[in-house]
Amino acid sequence: MSIVIRSLGIAVPSRVLTNADLEKMVDTSDEWIRERTGIRERRISDEPLSVLAEKAAREALENACVSPDDIELILMATITGDYPLPAAACLLQERLGIKEVPAFDLAAACSGFIYGLAVAEGLSARYSTILFVSGEILSAVTDYTDRSTCVLFGDGAGAAVLTVADGNISRRELVDYVICADGTGWRHIHIPAGGSAEPPTERTISERLHYIKMTGRDVFKNAVKRMEEAIVELLKRNNLDISGVDLIVPHQANARIIHTLCERLGVAKEKTYINIDRYGNTSAASIPLALYEAERDGLIGAGSLVVAASFGAGYTWGAALFRW
Ligand code: UT7
Repeated sequence: MSIVIRSLGIAVPSRVLTNADLEKMVDTSDEWIRERTGIRERRISDEPLSVLAEKAAREALENACVSPDDIELILMATITGDYPLPAAACLLQERLGIKEVPAFDLAAACSGFIYGLAVAEGLSARYSTILFVSGEILSAVTDYTDRSTCVLFGDGAGAAVLTVADGNISRRELVDYVICADGTGWRHIHIPAGGSAEPPTERTISERLHYIKMTGRDVFKNAVKRMEEAIVELLKRNNLDISGVDLIVPHQANARIIHTLCERLGVAKEKTYINIDRYGNTSAASIPLALYEAERDGLIGAGSLVVAASFGAGYTWGAALFRW
C-alpha cells in the first residue's frame, strides 16, 4: 500500500524577526548568524499552533478539493501544541469542524514530517483520507537571552492531505522511507523542565529550564552523518543512484549542515532546496514548507524524484523518497 500527498498547504506568521532585531536582544551579529547558519530572518507567531495549523490545513483541503467531512484521521507532528494536554490534533479537529474520527500527535521533533508520513502509510489501509499537519511554534520554547539557540528557530506549519495511491491518483507518491532514532542522544537537544522529570516550579522558571537547550556541535556532526546514512540507505533499497534524484529537500537547520551533506553525497549545492534564510529552523514544519515552495517555484514537477531527509531531537532521523 502506498500513499500520495494529494495536496500541500503552508502557513507562516506575518511577523518577521530579522538578524538586526536579534542584534538588539543578544550579543550577536548579522554577519555571524549568516555565515554560521545561513539564516537572515525567521517568522514569529503571536498565536498558538492551532491557528497556523488551521490555516495550513484549510489550504491543503482546498488544493485537494477535499471537504473536512471526508477526513478519516487527523495526525499532527509537533512538540509545541497549544497545551501539553490534549493533543494538538484534537484542537485542529474542533477548529475545522471535523466529525468524530481518530486524532493524535506524534513527537519526533525535526523528523516529524517523515515520521508522520511513515505512520500515515501504516494506517492507510484503514483510513484512506488523512489530514496531516506538521508544525511548530518554536518561539514558545526558545530562550531569547541565549544567543546559541535563539538565532536559529522560527515558527511555521505545513499540511498535507494524504490518500491511498491508485491508478488515477499517483502524483506525489511516497515511494519509500527510512526512519530511525538513537535515544542516547536525547540530552543534546532537550527542554529540561515542564515534563514529569522536572514539573514546573518557580525555580525551573527562574532558571529558564522550560526552554530548549542544545549542544550545537554534537548536533551538527550527527545531523550530517545521520542524514547521509538515511539517504544512502534509501537510495540503495530502491536501486537508485544519487545522480537520478532531481531534488534533495533536507531539514533546514543550518545551511552549513546542508552544504557539508552535499559534499559527503558528492552532489552540487544546487541539487538541494534551501529556504532557511527566510524561516530559520522550523523543526517539523521545515520539510513541508520546503516541498511546497520547491513545487511552487517549479523546481519539482510531475515525475520528479525527490528525496527529503531530516534529523532532530531524540536523536531522530529519516529520509523519504517521492515520485512527485
Ligand atoms: O534541527 C536540528 C537541531 N539543530 C541543529 O541541527 C543545529 C546544529 N548546530 C548548529 O547549527 C551549530 O552548531 C550552531 C549554529 C548552533 C553553532 O555554530 P558553531 O559553528 O557550531 O558554533 P560554536 O557553538 O562552536 O560556537 C563558536 C563561537 C563560540 O564562541 P567562542 O567560544 O569561540 O568564543 C560561541 O560562543 O560562536 C559563539 N556563538 C555566537 N557568536 C555570535 C554562539 N552563538 C553565537 C551567536 N552570535 N548567535
